[in-house]
Amino acid sequence: MSNYKTILVEKHDGIAVITINRPDKLNALNSKVHEEGVAALDELRNDEKIRVVVFTGAGEKSFIAGADISEFAGKTPVTQRAVFQNRTLFNSIDTFPKPVIAMINGFCLGGGCELALACDIRIASENAKLGQPEINLGIIPGGGGTQRLTKLIGEGKSMEIILTGDMIDAETALSLGLVNHVYPAEELEENTMKLAGKIASKSPIALQMAKEAVKTASKSNLDEGLRREVDLFAITFSSEDKEEGVSAFLEKRKPEFKGR
Ligand code: COA
Repeated sequence: MSNYKTILVEKHDGIAVITINRPDKLNALNSKVHEEGVAALDELRNDEKIRVVVFTGAGEKSFIAGADISEFAGKTPVTQRAVFQNRTLFNSIDTFPKPVIAMINGFCLGGGCELALACDIRIASENAKLGQPEINLGIIPGGGGTQRLTKLIGEGKSMEIILTGDMIDAETALSLGLVNHVYPAEELEENTMKLAGKIASKSPIALQMAKEAVKTASKSNLDEGLRREVDLFAITFSSEDKEEGVSAFLEKRKPEFKGR
């Protein structure tokens, strides 16, 4: 694995943990983090041993406190548009073929919330604070926040979060469906890894098809989505894993999926 400067990548038991490692800046996303995060995902995409990716932030205070605001100073519309049209970490996560979990261990703001929204599942610690505070800087979310947040929790609730810029606590985020689970900080990692491990034990082919099918639901209309689902469902019938899963059920044993 490459020697990254702003992220750490650890691999164990089919799970890769990518830690944004700028704790002195509350893990704010600068262009280097985007570049290295995209490169890490490119490596993990082809790593057959890795079945699930987890994103988190270094230190105990913050997941990601947003885009690095210092990089906004002096940017023109043209240069800023180019930055967000490049391969951002948000889009790389969204289109990554394996499941991605956000392990939210503190501030999850602006681009941090947008990164979590691009992930497939979000798990937060009790002390997490989430929000889209861009409005307080005289700007709006530009990394998918207005779209993915609205798709996930609905227009009214999304509007309030984006128009006020207020932070919400983890329990509120749970009640809105913005996060899937909330755990005490000291139990966050254990519970996230348990979930990641459970997902990693499934057929990687089925996981990929399932992720694509679910993502299609928010990107197309129902008829298109149902057609896509049938195609993806049919593709899983071409895998050895499907034969293994069916045989294991019939033989009353645990399946061993190989990703073929
Ligand atoms: N971009 C760049 N630097 C950031 C940052 C960001 N989004 N968020 C925090 N930092 C830096 C601070 O400038 C500070 O750096 P310094 O020690 O060199 O001055 C360091 O991280 C610690 O942050 P600090 O503000 O001192 O911590 P705090 O506990 O008092 O406040 C927050 C925490 C999250 C409330 C506050 O940092 C904040 O409001 N951050 C910006 C959040 C935001 O607007 N994000 C959306 C950006 S579009």
